Amino acid sequence: MQFFIDTANLDHIREAAELGILDGVTTNPSLMAKEGITGEKNILKHYRDICAIVGPGKDVSAEVISTDFKGMVAEGKKLAELHENIVVKIPMIKDGIKAIAHFSELDIKTNCTLVFSAGQAILAAKAGATYLSPFIGRVDDITWDGIALIKEINEIYSLQMYETAILAASIRTPLHIVQAAKAGADVVTCPLSAITGLLNHPLTDIGLEKFLADHKKANG
Ligand code: G3P
Repeated sequence: MQFFIDTANLDHIREAAELGILDGVTTNPSLMAKEGITGEKNILKHYRDICAIVGPGKDVSAEVISTDFKGMVAEGKKLAELHENIVVKIPMIKDGIKAIAHFSELDIKTNCTLVFSAGQAILAAKAGATYLSPFIGRVDDITWDGIALIKEINEIYSLQMYETAILAASIRTPLHIVQAAKAGADVVTCPLSAITGLLNHPLTDIGLEKFLADHKKANG
């Protein structure tokens, strides 16, 4: 399973990259706004900065703002030309599916976002999306089961041999990461806190403290 970080915060991206486990980055308009990145010029520069931090071969999702086919295609092309790492992130709407199919023919990578059902997942795979982003945290927020959705999509994709990668998104906790791995997600995209949260275990802390104390006792 690949690890993406879900943020536009350059320090967080740098920290995850330095851990040596980072495979890519996802952003969205809310995450860009949260970092105060506004205006086309600054937004495009920010995507370039992210690509420079993560280095070659790491996919970076950049989302279109347009909601009509023509606009999405124009925006997506501009984003894809920015850097070879860029994956065009497109919402799960009718024109979005058309744009994904169009980009698929051009061999431009896409990430179909705002996915909440198995039916949407089938449509995105048929259109040739590179990644599919089911938002598991937001499904949980309304007391449905986000992990069950990942399992269902994984079952369908395996049976139908769809090539679209399941990118579990809207991950909130380390437990979500473990559950997404068990459910067959190809990728998880998570905030830094969820990634570093995987490190924590009280027995590790207790064990390390004891090893160091024993070493000090023996070695003075
Ligand atoms: O990857 C999608 C993600 O950014 C949405 O997360 O926490 O806003 O539901 P959240």
